[in-house]
Amino acid sequence: MQFAKSEWEPRIGTADFEEMMKRALRSDGFLILEAVMSPSLLARLQAGFGKVLDEFVAANASNRGANRFNTHLYLDGVFADEELVANPIALRLIHGLLGIDAACSWAAADTPLPGSDYQVAHADGRPLFRSHDLSLPVYALAVNFPLVDFTEENGPLEIWGNGTHLLSDVAPHLGAADRPPQRVTMPAGSLMIRDTRMWHRGSPNRSDHARPNLAFVYHRSWYRFEGEAGHTPPAVSAEAYAGWSLATRRLFRFAATDPALTESHRIEMVYRLEALEEEAGLARSRAPMAAVAALA
Ligand SMILES: [Fe+2]
Repeated sequence: MQFAKSEWEPRIGTADFEEMMKRALRSDGFLILEAVMSPSLLARLQAGFGKVLDEFVAANASNRGANRFNTHLYLDGVFADEELVANPIALRLIHGLLGIDAACSWAAADTPLPGSDYQVAHADGRPLFRSHDLSLPVYALAVNFPLVDFTEENGPLEIWGNGTHLLSDVAPHLGAADRPPQRVTMPAGSLMIRDTRMWHRGSPNRSDHARPNLAFVYHRSWYRFEGEAGHTPPAVSAEAYAGWSLATRRLFRFAATDPALTESHRIEMVYRLEALEEEAGLARSRAPMAAVAALA
């Protein structure tokens, strides 16, 4: 489901809307709230990522097909902003679906440049039991923030949001032939949350500009990315880490941290469920969802 700002803003913070969003993610495998990000953060990210992309493209060959670049994000400065890495609206859904002890193990951007081509239909996350036709609850969610408007021309994401995340015994590139995908157009600064098992692909960018899409993957506490092809844990600067709340530090407890971090910081990253639950209770009373709407 996809909601314009005029549709979600009056309803965000209500229990009915939150339950409906969770149902949409469980059944469709994706949810889009348009224009969630504050304009000031969006402007700073656009400027900051422009530099990151230019440097990466100058030094590297395309790594996701022709003229398509996947860029890991070093979590420092604007890329460590808690409105981005621990977005309050996204976090309510992440905690609701993945548990209060969820963690983040992926921070990157996917950017097709002009001249890019179709990707093969694929899933970012694998079925946990590939040989069985089992529809299991979600274990990982990808959170996307487009930094430009996604239009018909600039290579929007194409998705099969018809429950494909629940098909564990069908290869995406084969099953995708059954029906055409949905092309995702949305304004810059939108929030897209998707079950990592949902089938999708990038499409050709026929515009004259890059189409960056930031991506963070959050997962249940027991899931580990080690062994997944090409996995690189997020890296966090000591300055960013020191400025984060305890809850955000715990969210990134599997991240690679700067060697300059003190031992006391490392101890804080130890997983303590009781403390997380206690803090969540406090957080709920301190920051109800009504306050979250003010961020948008
Ligand atoms: Fe993908």
